[in-house]
Amino acid sequence: MRVLVHTEAAEAWRDALAERLPDAEIFTSAAPADQRRRADYLATWKPSPELLGELEGLKGIINLGAGVDALLNNPALPSGVPIVKLRDAGMAGPIADYVRYGVCHFQRDFDRYRRQQARAEWRQHPAVDKAEWPVGVLGLGAIGAKVAQALADDGFPVHGWSRSPRTLPGIECHHGDAGLRELLPRVKSLVLLLPDTPATRRVIDAEALAALPEGASLINPGRGTLIDEAALLAALGDASSETQGRLRGALLDAFPEEPLPAESPLWSHPRVLITPHMAGPTPLGEALDQVAEALRALAAGEAVETIDPAAGY
Ligand code: GLV
Repeated sequence: MRVLVHTEAAEAWRDALAERLPDAEIFTSAAPADQRRRADYLATWKPSPELLGELEGLKGIINLGAGVDALLNNPALPSGVPIVKLRDAGMAGPIADYVRYGVCHFQRDFDRYRRQQARAEWRQHPAVDKAEWPVGVLGLGAIGAKVAQALADDGFPVHGWSRSPRTLPGIECHHGDAGLRELLPRVKSLVLLLPDTPATRRVIDAEALAALPEGASLINPGRGTLIDEAALLAALGDASSETQGRLRGALLDAFPEEPLPAESPLWSHPRVLITPHMAGPTPLGEALDQVAEALRALAAGEAVETIDPAAGY
């Protein structure tokens, strides 16, 4: 089997995959064009349309990330080629830590203390117990389910939401449109771990934000397209005043346009924390095992869990 690896640090992926698949011919996009064109499989993260368009004989694509939105939105994506994506692959742990940081930031009033420090103001706020701080997790895929579980293990009451029904021990699971309406008014922090699909775009709009309780906070390590940015800014309230809007604050890692443009009002909003899409790095170890196994199974014609392009995940 011939495998083209195209991603950042492609040489490291190529060498590590070659160790796991000694009979395969593995090369990066620096290989000559005629070698690239003979690739049977492409292991990639965000390939350019030019590269995808060159590869006419592809038998499978491995997405080197959890979200397949960039691949599915690529105009040169050949139809009917099976796509396998990473499932958790070591990303859920760091994402759970990111979410813990965000929940703790608001639950333990670090946002308030940060603003007080600027005024040299020594004032304690009454501590709120974790048991009194319900967290909502939208998206219960491989990552969302682990994050929900980590928060529940920490002692937070957790409400999970997915499009179709799910059961997870220790998590109050909701589903469908009615389930989302049920969940929103009940959570103090809302975590977004949904894929970017036509059905999830701007799921957090003015109506959803208005359904959250006064003083709720938003944590988005998922996709920027899930949020209607104008509605978010309106819910946060006036950036120039200390008075809080309906939404107490937001920790955001993903944006519809990345890097987040310098002129975005989110950068300077005093109740917004911005990180540059770093919540879920992909450690090579587990991801390599998944990629090598998917390639082996695809080449052997064995059943492999592929994504559903119509659903978008
Ligand atoms: C990163 O955003 C991923 O989808 O893996």
